[in-house]
Order: sequence, then structure tokens, then C-alpha cells
Amino acid sequence: MTLPSSRLRLGVNIDHVATIRNARGGDHPDPVRAAAIVAAVGGDGITAHLREDRRHIRDADLARIQAATDLPLNLEMAATREMLAIALRHRPHAACIVPERREERTTEGGLDAAGLHNTLVPIIEELKGAGIRVSLFIEADERQLDAALRLGAPVVEFHTGEYAHACLDGDRERVARELKRITDMAALAAKNGIEPHAGHGLTFDNVQPIAAIPQIAELNIGHFLIGEAVFVGLAGAIRRMRELMDAAR
Ligand code: PXP
Repeated sequence: MTLPSSRLRLGVNIDHVATIRNARGGDHPDPVRAAAIVAAVGGDGITAHLREDRRHIRDADLARIQAATDLPLNLEMAATREMLAIALRHRPHAACIVPERREERTTEGGLDAAGLHNTLVPIIEELKGAGIRVSLFIEADERQLDAALRLGAPVVEFHTGEYAHACLDGDRERVARELKRITDMAALAAKNGIEPHAGHGLTFDNVQPIAAIPQIAELNIGHFLIGEAVFVGLAGAIRRMRELMDAAR
């Protein structure tokens, strides 16, 4: 995903197609079919999180997704030796390092890039050595951004979960505070040569203020799009998200 234009890219996270598939233990719905739809409607990339417990995407899905589409694959992964080995085997376009706790329902909060510096150094080095674009999923926080800079990460993805929660709560002050935090950190990242992305909890209702932040190059959106696909189909849900993103730019 290295288009030179200022068009905001949309990476579609297809994890929850696999969640539904796994609920019955068969092979339907297949996340590979979802990836083909993302490509057909102009999505810019496929995002998939291979979790330690394999609750949605499984190892075999990665190769199948890569074989089925030319879209860049953004592999979300915990900073573990197991995930590093898998990333090196599959060589996705990008690897986004995320925090992962076994009991959490979803990725809660950003990676502590500052506190995990020593763990992250060799992992980032090996990923970069394999030509994989490394991204760190962090809170929009100066300390974490500084740590990402020191780690030589070319990309950071800002966790928009707090912003999304504030929107759901209808708490305008918190929404404004979260937006300012993300806006300021996106500008600081870009100034320092880091490409800022954003994602988590984004919906039709809350995407536009984030999409309007000029330095943000990519949004990664999953749960809402897959949920909305139940009602309008995946193609329709992606098209609508694309329209809203373009209109905000
Ligand atoms: N970006 C990252 C790094 C994530 O971990 C997730 C959730 O897996 C997302 C984006 C997408 O979040 P959501 O499913 O809430 O749209």
C-alpha cells in the first residue's frame, strides 16, 4: 500500500468473517471470499489478525488470502517469536504489532512501545530485514510515538477505541479531546517521517472526523463492516464507508 496520492486508503479487516465460520466449525463463510469482494469494490488492503488462540483467522487462511488476491496483506500480530516466524514465512506486505491478552474480547488499548522496547527491537529488525513494512498499534500519545521513532517503525496505527467509545457515549468533550490527541499526534508522526494510520471501533457514524485528519494515510476497519454486511452485503458496506471517507477528505 504505497500509493503516492493523498487518497485515504481503506484496509478491511476480515477477521470476523472467520469468527462466524468458526462458530460452526465448517468452511463457510470463507474469509477468502470476503477478500475477493474487498478487491472487487476497490478496498486498498486486507487486514487479518492471527491471534494466539486462533479464534478467527487461522494459519492456513493467510496463504489462501495471499494466493486469492493481489491486495496487500496487513498481518496484525503480537510481539512473540511464534508470530514472528509466521510473518517471516508468509512475508505479508505489512505487519502491525499489536498488544494481545488471551482473555480480552478485542485489542484493548495500544501497544506499550516504550515499555517493550527491548522485546520489540529484534522483532522489528527481522521484519524489516524481510522487507515487511512494520507498523505499531499505539495510543496517540507522545511517549509512545517517541518510542516508535526510536524503534525505527515506518508506520504507526493510532488506536481509535477511546474516540469510538466517547462517540457511543455521546460525550462531546471526550470526543473533542480524543480527536485533538489523534490529530496532534498524526501531525507529529508525519513531521518525523512516520506514516500515521488509524483504526478500531470506526463506523459510518464516527469515521469522518478521523478521515479528515490530513496526515492519516490509512484506516483499518473490521467489526462494523462485517456486521453491516449482514444487512447490506459486504460490497455495499465497503462502498458506503469509502464514500464517507472520500467526502471527509
Ligand atoms: N487495527 C488494529 C491494529 C486492530 O487490532 C483492529 C481490531 O482487530 C482494527 C484495526 C479494526 O478494529 P475494528 O474491528 O473495531 O474495526
